[in-house]
Amino acid sequence: MTELIICTTCRTADTPRDQKAAGEILFEAVQAEQALADHADWASVRVRGIACTAGCSRACTVALQAPGKHSYQFGDLVPSEATARQLLDCAALYHRTPDGKLARDARPPLLRNGLLCRLPPAGGQPHMRTVATSARANDLAFSAPEREAVYRAIFERRDMRHFAGGTVDPAVMRRLLMAAHHAPSVGYMQPWRFIRVASRALRADLKALVEQERERTAHALGERGNAFMRLKVEGLMDAAEVWVVALAEGRERHVFGRRTLPQMDLASVACAIQNMWLAARAEGLGMGWVSMFDPKAVAVRLGMPDGAEPVAMLCIGPVHCFYDEPMLEKERWSRRADIDTLLFEDVWGHAWGASSLPTPITDSIS
Ligand SMILES: Cc1cc2nc3c(=O)[nH]c(=O)nc-3n(C[C@H](O)[C@H](O)[C@H](O)COP(=O)(O)O)c2cc1C
Repeated sequence: MTELIICTTCRTADTPRDQKAAGEILFEAVQAEQALADHADWASVRVRGIACTAGCSRACTVALQAPGKHSYQFGDLVPSEATARQLLDCAALYHRTPDGKLARDARPPLLRNGLLCRLPPAGGQPHMRTVATSARANDLAFSAPEREAVYRAIFERRDMRHFAGGTVDPAVMRRLLMAAHHAPSVGYMQPWRFIRVASRALRADLKALVEQERERTAHALGERGNAFMRLKVEGLMDAAEVWVVALAEGRERHVFGRRTLPQMDLASVACAIQNMWLAARAEGLGMGWVSMFDPKAVAVRLGMPDGAEPVAMLCIGPVHCFYDEPMLEKERWSRRADIDTLLFEDVWGHAWGASSLPTPITDSIS
C-alpha cells in the first residue's frame, strides 16, 4: 500500500495560531478529491494526516512511502485543489513504480520542485526480499541465497563506461568467456568469436572509429545531438581489457531456426554477451558494450574473413563503483518503461491478466 502522508500542522510563519493550518487544509482537500473523483488509480493511495513531520520551515510538507520503495518528502506546497489532485496523481504514479523512484520530469508539475529528500528503501531492494521470503517453487529450484545471487547479478549489472584501470586475472577472464560460450544459440550454431585487443595502438584506432561514429550519431539525432555528445559512451582507453565480439563467417549454412529469422544469429551472440555481463558483475568487474562503430572498418582493422561481422567492443575491468541505475537514466536521456505497458494477453495492446494498462512511456526514446 502506498501512503501519502500530509503534515496537518504545517503553517506559514504569518498564519495566526487560531486559524486552520495550511497542512490541514491540504489534507482535507486531498481527502475530498479522493472521495469525489472516480479515479481507480487514486484508490491505491492511503492518505494519512500526521501532526508535524518536522519540516516546519518548508510548509506545507508531504511524504510518499511504501514497503520496499524509496521514500520522498516534498515541501513548499500551497494548499489548493490543484495541489491535491497532483499529489494523488504523483502517489498513484509512485504506486505503479517497482522501486518508488520518480524522475523529476515524470512527476506532476507542482511536485517537480520542493523535493526535500529521497531515502532508499529500508533493508535493501524489494526484489531481494521477495526472493528471500518466497517459497521454492519446486525441488528443482535453487536455494533462497542462490536465487538471490542470480537476481542480484541481474539487477545490479550495469553497462559501465568508467573504469579504474588495473588488470583482469586471465583465469577470471577465461571464466567470463566460458560463461559466454555456455549461452543458448539458434540451432546450437555458436556464432560468437572473441578477439582480445592487446595492443594500445589498436585500442586507440578502435576508439577513433567509435569517435567518428559518435559524431555521425549526434548529427543523425538532430536536436538531441548536443545532449548526446555530452554522454560518455565508451571506456576503451581506461578498461583493463578490450574484447571485440563478432559473428562468425559462413552463417548462411545455418538455416535451423533462421530461415525466416536470420537475425537469430545476432540474438545468440547477444545471449553470450549477456552471460558475460552477468558473470563480470558477479566477479566485481564492470563491462560496457560499445556498438557505435562502422562494422566494415572494424572488420578490416582486425583482419576478419569475409562474412564475419563485429557487433561489440567490450570494455571489461575493475571499476571504482557500479552505477546504481542505468547511466542513461542518471543523465535523464531515457527511463525504464513501466513493465505493465509491455505485457499483453492474446492480442497486442490487451493488458496481461487483471492489471490495468497505464499510459505507456513514449518520450525520450531515440
Ligand atoms: C546491443 C547493445 C548495444 C549497446 N551499445 C552501447 C554503446 O555503443 N555505447 C554505450 O555507452 N552503451 C551501449 N549499450 C548500453 C546501453 O546503453 C545500456 O544497456 C542501457 O542504457 C541500460 O543500462 P544498463 O545496461 O546499465 O541497465 C548497449 C547495450 C546493448 C544491449
